[in-house]
Amino acid sequence: MKVVCLGAHILDVLGRPVPDIPPGQGRRTLEEIRITAAGTAGGTAVDLAKLGAEVVSIGPVGDDATGRLLLDLLDSHGVDVRHMARRPGLATPATMLPIRPNGERPALHAPGSMGTLTAADVDLGLVADADVLHVGGPDVLGDFTRDALPDILRFAAEHGTATSMDLLSVGRRELADVLAPAWEHTGFLLPNDDQIRAVTGRDDLVEAAGVARACGVGTVVVTTGAQGCLIVTGDGVERLPAFDVPVVDTTGCGDAFTAGFLVGFGARRSLPDAALLGTAAAALVAQGLGSDAGIVDLPSTLAFGDRRSPGVA
Ligand SMILES: Nc1ncnc2c1ncn2[C@@H]1O[C@H](COP(=O)(O)OP(=O)(O)OP(=O)(O)O)[C@@H](O)[C@H]1O
Ligand SMILES: [Mg+2]
Repeated sequence: MKVVCLGAHILDVLGRPVPDIPPGQGRRTLEEIRITAAGTAGGTAVDLAKLGAEVVSIGPVGDDATGRLLLDLLDSHGVDVRHMARRPGLATPATMLPIRPNGERPALHAPGSMGTLTAADVDLGLVADADVLHVGGPDVLGDFTRDALPDILRFAAEHGTATSMDLLSVGRRELADVLAPAWEHTGFLLPNDDQIRAVTGRDDLVEAAGVARACGVGTVVVTTGAQGCLIVTGDGVERLPAFDVPVVDTTGCGDAFTAGFLVGFGARRSLPDAALLGTAAAALVAQGLGSDAGIVDLPSTLAFGDRRSPGVA
């Protein structure tokens, strides 16, 4: 399965446990600090590669040490980084994540080069050749999302490439107008509950998913953290609970869910079965620090999903 991951690639620096930031110049000793390749495109790219997909990443990075490290991490997981867009003089998008003892993850983010992607950075030959085009973080890609993304998604659809999208931030209501032309050509939208509520202005998740579907999205899969997910199609709504696992850090659970879901889709599983693979991948990531924790490969992720019935959370 070939996937192009287009959009937000971020270097995450995570430490745990951080119950609070020490006052003044105070100091705290942590159990663990990790650096990972993350973001709704980059984190999903790493997880897809671990699950056996052939992955090409396209996203903006600076020419700084952070960017070199990010590319090296992606490459070490087997992601093709030759098409990443280098931006001389700009910083690579990066996030500091002080992980709370309960696994919650406040994020301190510096976008750097994030908003600089243009249509010229996207090799349409790669898009046509891929099985899936996954767009991560259209909400943070600046003018690209309005000016270039709808045409790229339409091109993908016209060339038989399935399309998916996940958001990075909890956007605002105005974002819906920017995303609507892209949603027209989006097969799968996989936001979390806060994001779809904020963008659509609807509190009820099925109604919120309905707003995106009315714009043209085929299937909306809303992830709801420890509760699981909701699959909304024209045929109705299915709910799938998460796995009950000892949580260390939920950073990247959504990215892992997307990766598992897309691999399931690529293997022609039913939507609930694809979501089950997504749920298993996400549960593995939740048990370690960082968005690349936990997942080893497809057989062990499938085995994890088969061994444990969801519904116990
Ligand atoms: N505490 C948890 N226990 C078990 N599974 C979890 C937990 N939190 C998340 N998950 C799994 O991960 C999936 C995605 O989680 P969530 O809705 O938090 O995504 P997200 O907010 O997009 O995360 P991120 O943006 O960091 O990748 C859920 O559907 C669920 O299967
Ligand atoms: Mg997410």
